[in-house]
Amino acid sequence: MTTLEIRDLHVNVAQTDADAEPINILKGVDLTVRSGETHAIMGPNGSGKSTLSYAIAGHPKYEVTQGSITLDGEDVLEMSVDERARAGLFLAMQYPVEVPGVSMSNFLRTAATAVRGEAPKLRTWVKEVKEAMGDLGIDPAFGERSVNEGFSGGEKKRHEILQLDLLKPKIAVLDETDSGLDVDALRVVSEGVNRYKAEEDGGILLITHYTRILKYIQPDYVHVFINGRIAESGGAELADELEAGGYDRFTKASA
Ligand SMILES: Nc1ncnc2c1ncn2[C@@H]1O[C@H](COP(=O)(O)OP(=O)(O)OP(=O)(O)O)[C@@H](O)[C@H]1O
Ligand SMILES: [Mg+2]
Repeated sequence: MTTLEIRDLHVNVAQTDADAEPINILKGVDLTVRSGETHAIMGPNGSGKSTLSYAIAGHPKYEVTQGSITLDGEDVLEMSVDERARAGLFLAMQYPVEVPGVSMSNFLRTAATAVRGEAPKLRTWVKEVKEAMGDLGIDPAFGERSVNEGFSGGEKKRHEILQLDLLKPKIAVLDETDSGLDVDALRVVSEGVNRYKAEEDGGILLITHYTRILKYIQPDYVHVFINGRIAESGGAELADELEAGGYDRFTKASA
């Protein structure tokens, strides 16, 4: 049983112009994600959802100025990015980065070695990757391609779930993993997430704009994210309300 606990989190982001003052984006986020729970976060563009995911993952541009993040009581903010991954945190990014010159298969093996603390045995590893790729409908030829380089939007998202499948984190943050997926890919990716949920009893923080994915991956909790904080939390019915009514009720209340 794992618990990710976020308390009163305030985060500033450094501006591209290093002389400019950092901007305050997160203004007191409280959220607890436990093993086996699926939390959906929905909110307007620019409200700080990706900032929250980067703060959890430890992106250097995001400075926590107040509050805490703990994983089973351990201070996540004290951990480096790779320590966070080893501790069981995983982030599927909204915009996965391209890594020219590093093949997908090398990347996956290096990541698995880092997270597991030892290199996976080659023979079982090859089988493991092949199976995971098969489950996600990924052509084995992708193994030899540079990480995300020239991948279509949907292909990048599938590969994020491939990593989830192979790295088996305790808590997974999925930032708009459903964006840009065609209907078949949405189903395949959702099945991948549900397999992870069933097999690893993982906790999921699913950031999305669409209730479409929530038909496949049923959330236990839905949080409305407005202006750097959670404005309201509820069950799956809250997502339906947002789809029907938009964010007006919440943005007005927070203004
Ligand atoms: N380097 C930066 N310089 C200036 N502003 C930034 C920087 N990085 C992030 N921001 C701002 O922080 C705010 C929150 O961004 P964030 O990506 O967290 O939003 P989001 O909720 O994920 O939006 P979306 O739904 O569009 O993905 C935005 O207004 C964004 O412009
Ligand atoms: Mg975002």
